[in-house]
Amino acid sequence: VWHYVGHVGQLAKPGDFFTTRLDRVPVVVVRDETGALRGHVNVCRHRGCEVVHDASGNRRSLQCPYHAWTYALDGRLLAAPKAKDQPGFDPAECSLPPVQIEQWGPLIFANLSGAARTLAEQFEVLPSLVTDAGIDFASVSFRRHDVHNVNANWKVVVENYLECYHCSVVHPSFIKTTNLEEFRIVPYGNVITEVVPTKEEYLPRVADGPVVNQGCYSYVWPLFILNIFPGKTSAFVRQLIPVAVDKTQVVYDFFYADEVSAEEEEELWQTGDQIFREDIPMVESVQRGLSSGTLEVGRLFLTEEVGPQYFKKLVLKALTREHEG
Ligand code: FES
Ligand SMILES: [Fe+2]
Repeated sequence: VWHYVGHVGQLAKPGDFFTTRLDRVPVVVVRDETGALRGHVNVCRHRGCEVVHDASGNRRSLQCPYHAWTYALDGRLLAAPKAKDQPGFDPAECSLPPVQIEQWGPLIFANLSGAARTLAEQFEVLPSLVTDAGIDFASVSFRRHDVHNVNANWKVVVENYLECYHCSVVHPSFIKTTNLEEFRIVPYGNVITEVVPTKEEYLPRVADGPVVNQGCYSYVWPLFILNIFPGKTSAFVRQLIPVAVDKTQVVYDFFYADEVSAEEEEELWQTGDQIFREDIPMVESVQRGLSSGTLEVGRLFLTEEVGPQYFKKLVLKALTREHEG
């Protein structure tokens, strides 16, 4: 499975790196001397120390802080102290295992599986939804980063995202600008999209450039979300990171086209942030309610909640696959 890990703004020059983790696996993503993006399992082949401890930086090689084994940016072991005294030691057998990397516009994705589907296979219709919304991914660049720690299981966070039954209760300022009757959920395969038309009078009037005229909010199984807000060109990425059974870290990265001014950026950012802040208490409360063990089966209203219904099917499919091996 492909996971969003960061953006090209973090890896502008050769030697730039950042570290992250995919589930329990520490990963380092670097731009090597040739300019290529590379991912490595960030676990030393000697005794397992994490090779790179910093969150980000620039290095010419990757040296483990424990016994100073040194790896090239492409993951090959270059040097290990006293290596020449070790009979039969072959550094070629001690490269950092590769992690697959793919780029989509400014977004960088990583995949631990060597036999993975391509990013395009996993993301299915998403690129064409982005294009249809009027967004050119080549024209956006990173502006803002934010992290929220939510005390709820990741699936509770996703289910909240996939319905707007709660919108008139929880998001009064959002529904003021929205044609809620025209809100629709479009399930594809791995992608579930919410199309949210903005009321005519609230569409931003922009003289100097194309404008996106309806919100298009897409969830990609299992942990990725891409929000396109109405207005000038922007793309808001959310990556969910399950931390514990009842804890999820939500990483936000915001991308805008160059013509988006600081004030417009602030306004769009506030819109997204406010909605999320309104959702968090509900989601955390649901987690406490579910953890109580007193709600064996909830009752979905399928006129309003096909998103969560469809999502539950994806969960079931994944569990069945796991069960069957
Ligand atoms: S664990 Fe990395 S050099 Fe020993
Ligand atoms: Fe919400």
